[in-house]
Amino acid sequence: MKALVTGGAGFIGSNLVRLLVEKKHSVTVLDNLSTGHLSNLGPFPSVKFIKGDIRDERTISRALRGVDIVFHLAASVGNSLSIKAPVYDSETNVLGTLKLLRAAHQNHIKKIVYSSSAGILGELKELPINENHPTNPISPYGVSKLAAEKMCLVYNSLYGMKNVCLRYFNVYGINQRYDAYGNVIPIFARRIIRKQPLFIFGDGYQTRDFVNVIDVAKANYQAAITGKVAGAFNIASGASITINKLANMMMQTARTTVPLQHKKPRLGDVRDSLANISAARKAFGFKPSVSLEEGLKKYMSWASQNRF
Ligand SMILES: NC(=O)c1ccc[n+]([C@@H]2O[C@H](COP(=O)([O-])OP(=O)(O)OC[C@H]3O[C@@H](n4cnc5c(N)ncnc54)[C@H](O)[C@@H]3O)[C@@H](O)[C@H]2O)c1
Repeated sequence: MKALVTGGAGFIGSNLVRLLVEKKHSVTVLDNLSTGHLSNLGPFPSVKFIKGDIRDERTISRALRGVDIVFHLAASVGNSLSIKAPVYDSETNVLGTLKLLRAAHQNHIKKIVYSSSAGILGELKELPINENHPTNPISPYGVSKLAAEKMCLVYNSLYGMKNVCLRYFNVYGINQRYDAYGNVIPIFARRIIRKQPLFIFGDGYQTRDFVNVIDVAKANYQAAITGKVAGAFNIASGASITINKLANMMMQTARTTVPLQHKKPRLGDVRDSLANISAARKAFGFKPSVSLEEGLKKYMSWASQNRF
């Protein structure tokens, strides 16, 4: 098949590109390199790269030429950025997705696999979280990811597309760079490698459901090749771990210890998170295969080689 991966130079996108290339598919990447890196695509010379913006209809049309399936990952990512730049966030995430949907439909493409987010849920009410959980996002990013998800589903009901929205929980793994604002695993990795103390907000007994990017890439692939599947699905590991335990596991993996310093809980952080992933298992055979121990080992080794 010929696949278009928007956001393919980013963290998750580049891992998906690797899988598609391994499976011998022809791949085009559309990315404006705002947070992605061309070096992530260095190992895949067969990939056609288009530097362009998902908000630009002409660029989308060019990228869609001859394409059978679209994986849509390009987005303005994260709560903090969306609070600083809410218009840019919605232009990219909502209007960008809508322009892509419209062009894909005009080009007779049957399926877009859209990278949604657990951020659309807002405050978590009941665990484990299933796909019927209420959606009350608490940031412009959560709202824009939810609006884009709904738009994908509206195209299913209006035009019989088979779009799939994958709601990722906490994704980690190779090509995930240090990001001062958000993700705990790269932040801990950097501080452990630099032998600096780890800051934990609150008592550290809050829990998160971490899923390896290799499994997220597989979920995209399986959702794509299972033609009939459509709708929204949780993508996570289906298991949770406390932040204290995560810190200890990462130190053990690096065979070192650094002090743990507890700080005041952060406003807006949820206490616990755990996904029910049985719908994705039933619909397209999603089954996480990388254990947190194994995934952290590979990640710590990648992070040490990449000058964290
Ligand atoms: N990382 C996570 O834990 C997580 C969790 C939930 C959902 N997601 C979703 O997964 C997707 C990929 O996220 P990621 O973590 O790989 O982030 P990332 O920032 O590494 O990837 C996003 C990619 O999109 C590109 N991009 C941004 N705006 C663009 C635009 N206007 N036009 C073209 N390209 C543009 C960036 O350059 C980058 O390569 C996003 O849609 C995100 O919302 C990620």
